[in-house]
Amino acid sequence: MSPLLLEVRGLTKRFGGLTANEDVSFSLSAGEIVGLLGPNGAGKTTVFNSLAGFFAPTSGDILLEGRSIAGLPPERVAALGVARTFQIVRIFKSMTVRENVMVAALLRHRAVPVARRKADEALAFTGLSGRAGDPAGQLTVAEQKRLEVTRALAIEPRLLLLDEVMAGLTSSEVHEAVEMVKRIRDRGIACVVVEHVMEGIMPIADRVVVLERGRVIADGPPAAVASDAAVIAAYLGEEYRAPGP
Ligand SMILES: Nc1ncnc2c1ncn2[C@@H]1O[C@H](COP(=O)(O)OP(=O)(O)OP(=O)(O)O)[C@@H](O)[C@H]1O
Ligand SMILES: [Mg+2]
Repeated sequence: MSPLLLEVRGLTKRFGGLTANEDVSFSLSAGEIVGLLGPNGAGKTTVFNSLAGFFAPTSGDILLEGRSIAGLPPERVAALGVARTFQIVRIFKSMTVRENVMVAALLRHRAVPVARRKADEALAFTGLSGRAGDPAGQLTVAEQKRLEVTRALAIEPRLLLLDEVMAGLTSSEVHEAVEMVKRIRDRGIACVVVEHVMEGIMPIADRVVVLERGRVIADGPPAAVASDAAVIAAYLGEEYRAPGP
């Protein structure tokens, strides 16, 4: 069995009287894709914010290869190999696409020529090379999402947290995004994928974890979770019920 890359133990995050995450536990092995699903407001992005160091958990722990990273600042967590994208893209619109990626690459490589080469490699991997010299503000929605992923990859992570990178995409763009996530996994980078687009995550996830009102209500292989009555009631609805025997 491959060692656990990430272990989330009893993660709780409260904002005043609001409990956004309550006793959330799940784990991820190296090279795995785990889907993190659930209705709007279930607490998915809050989990990412705690994992990536943007929030200190109220209680619980987050272990990366057995070492606690809970409460470390974002730059320390990134240096340890955890990268994330933002649900609302955070690109610098007046900078070029390449410069946007170089900002991330410079976290790993101090020399500008090296950072530029690493940025170009990441852009080639995500298929954005042709846009490298354009202002990022000129990108389509799909390209902006891909730029977010490219920047995260330029940090050279072991664990990548993708927050709704398929939202707002056409079905052919979703297909391309799915292929990209598979290629990321094939490079040995584990992924936690928050997604409402079921055809974007169910075919590629090794496991899915479902949150409802901050709590985990299911954790298992996609087919088992998709036919789980509690998940159907809380989130998926009848249309995603797995085919019967
Ligand atoms: N910084 C914050 N301060 C106060 N409340 C917050 C904060 N961030 C999130 N919340 C609250 O925590 C709950 C969970 O929000 P979160 O953004 O994690 O949900 P989500 O599952 O990502 O939803 P969506 O699918 O809509 O993106 C919500 O009630 C939200 O309003
Ligand atoms: Mg969210």
